[in-house]
Amino acid sequence: MDTIGLYRTTVGKKVVMAVTGAGLLLYVVVHMLGNLTVFSGPDAINGYGHWLREIGAVWPTRVALLACVTLHFVAAYQLTAKARKARGRYEHRRRVQGSYAARTMRWGGVIIALFVVYHLLDLTVGWLNPNGIPGEIHANVVADFQHWYVVLAYAIAVLALGFHIRHGVWSAIQTLGVTTSRVIGLGVAVAICAGFLSVPFAVFTGLVS
Ligand code: HEM
Repeated sequence: MDTIGLYRTTVGKKVVMAVTGAGLLLYVVVHMLGNLTVFSGPDAINGYGHWLREIGAVWPTRVALLACVTLHFVAAYQLTAKARKARGRYEHRRRVQGSYAARTMRWGGVIIALFVVYHLLDLTVGWLNPNGIPGEIHANVVADFQHWYVVLAYAIAVLALGFHIRHGVWSAIQTLGVTTSRVIGLGVAVAICAGFLSVPFAVFTGLVS
């Protein structure tokens, strides 16, 4: 079967979801680790951001992220449409099969997408940030998390990301035939949530200033 033929199958679309999801997860892990440099002071996190620009990593990463997000979304949409069509003949089953996980993933994905738009306007462009000077990463982050409602918005998004990753990792490793265990997905999700949440809470409690 050629590549297009494989993509037309349910398994092919699931493989696309797994591979693009893995790419997005890699970005999220690297970003979370980069954020932890905030605990080493302003020079560390500002220097890290400056270094990423200097080595020319920013635009290739943005293009790769956009490609992964697009493919991930299109494959998810087509899988949902395919499942709906297949169920059409058995209307009464609609609410039973996999509907909880599917709904959680769909709404989780929407929350994460809306968050990324807000997050870019906040910490990349600076328009929605109380300090808002591109490059002044430490000052922008500290200015943000003085406010409980900003901490809350980030916490909701990070938790939505955690649930999405927990189910996504489980689903992907099943598709790729590695294992059916749920422990890996849970462990990865908890580690990522803890890493991301540590920053807003450290600023809000005055540990980082
Ligand atoms: C507490 C959590 C987070 C903090 C403190 C944080 C911090 C930041 C900062 C400071 C920047 C700008 C970096 C720079 O100017 O060089 C940034 C950019 C970005 N963040 Fe986050 N982030 C968090 C969570 C997330 C999450 C959960 C995601 C993804 C779902 C994410 C995705 C991005 C993206 C896509 C960019 C744009 C990178 C670019 O300019 O190309 N962030 N983040």
